[in-house]
This record gives sequence, structure tokens and C-alpha cells, in this order.
Amino acid sequence: MKILIFPDAQTASLETARRIMTRVATMPKAVLGLATGGTMEPVYTALRSAFAQHPMAFSGITTFNLDEYIGLHPDHPQSYHCYMKKHLFAALQLPVARTHLPRGDAPDPDAESARYEDAILQAGGIDLQLLGLGANGHIGFNEPTSSLTSRTRIKTLTRSTVAANARFFSEDERVPDTAITMGIGTILDAKQILLLATGAAKKDAVAKMIEGPLSAACPASALQLHRHATILVDEAAATDLKLRVYYETVHPSGADK
Ligand code: GLP
Repeated sequence: MKILIFPDAQTASLETARRIMTRVATMPKAVLGLATGGTMEPVYTALRSAFAQHPMAFSGITTFNLDEYIGLHPDHPQSYHCYMKKHLFAALQLPVARTHLPRGDAPDPDAESARYEDAILQAGGIDLQLLGLGANGHIGFNEPTSSLTSRTRIKTLTRSTVAANARFFSEDERVPDTAITMGIGTILDAKQILLLATGAAKKDAVAKMIEGPLSAACPASALQLHRHATILVDEAAATDLKLRVYYETVHPSGADK
């Protein structure tokens, strides 16, 4: 694992976007795994600016998102389909056929999960997977106790995850408590992984992911098994890291040596 610590969230987010741009520049037909959540918004803002300057940069990419709420139609404003359209896909003018998310409104979510897993395989697998981090250590919607070898499937969300995501829904709306998510095994199959975590609310999960035992109790700790996983954090999210001095010695100010 490569641990890069940045002075603030904006710097960490810009560096995440820069790394995505670099991957796409060297591999114009890259298959990108994408994430949602508040943490990703500045990353997507930076990618939209990059597109404004290099309109052809993203024309060959294919994308697969991590997850989608069960029961939400792609046009529902809080669906991850809508999130992606709003924050990235519309601005990058990506053809719908090359932007993939699980269908939360599929009549048979199990079959939809299997179809999604197969679509990733058919595309040749994910070259670069972008991840956020839940405050309880989840990646995608793989909640604590998820099998570390799991594939795309239905997951029930914890109360704390439902509560954390309620901020995106209006008060009278029911927040979905099930989702289709890539499994931890699916995520680990990506050739390269970038995880971005910012803010003090993530400090406990960041410490467990990096320095805790490999455990289904902290799904993100599975990244310890990956050979090309880079973790980008800001000061606030890095607070509880015991080996922080070591990480900063190897990568001063987040520099990649
Ligand atoms: C959701 C998403 C995750 C995301 C997490 C953190 O649960 N399924 O992919 O990483 O939220 O979200 P935020 O960045 O808003 O804290």
C-alpha cells in the first residue's frame, strides 16, 4: 500500500484527479471503476475542468460504477445514475453505452448482479478503480462482515450508512437500505486502486484500513492484499495513523518517489 498524506482535502482530491488523467493519457481506452459520495465531488469537478481543456481525453474510456441503491429508477434524483450524470457523464459527453452502473430498479436484483459482474469481465476487467471510504470502513456498499472474496451482489446497508447517506435525500423520502454493489473480490481484481478519504469522520476507518488487521470487520482492510493500491488522505483523515512519520518520510507531502 502506498500512503500519501496531503495538507488538505482539496490537494488530495486534485492529486486523485491528476492520477486518473495520467492513467487515461497513457491508456486512452482505460476501463475506469468509479465511486460516488461527497468525497468524490471535487475529484469530478477537476475532471470536468480537464475535459474543458482536453475534450478528446476521455473519448475512449469505459466506466463501471461500484454500486446503486435497490428500488431507485435511474432517473431518481438520488440514484447514483443521476449523481454520475450530474457530476461527470454529461460534462464528459460519454456515450451511455460505455457508462455502466447496476440497475437498482431491475426486477431480479440477483440476476442483475450476475449480469454486471459478467459485463466487467467482458470489458476486460477494471484498469483503475476509484474508491471512497465509509466511516465504518466500507468500500462500495460492502458493509462490515462482507466476505473478502465477495462478488457483485445485494447488500443490506447498516443503520449508520443509511443515516450517513440520508443527507442526500429530502426529509419525507425513505432512504434505501439495500443496494447492488461490486464485491470486495470484484474490487480487488482491478489492476490498480486509488482510495481517497478526507475529513476527520474517516480517521478511524483510515487507521483500521491501513494499520489494523486484515478483517471483514473493516472491509477496506482488504486493500492490504492488493499490489497496486494507493491511499490518498488529508491531514484530518490521517490523524490516527501510528506510522505516519514513516509514510511522510517515504512520500513527503504526498510526493510519489
Ligand atoms: C457511500 C458509497 C461509497 C462511498 C461512501 C462515502 O456509502 N456507496 O462508495 O465511498 O458512501 O461517502 P462520502 O464520500 O459521502 O463520505
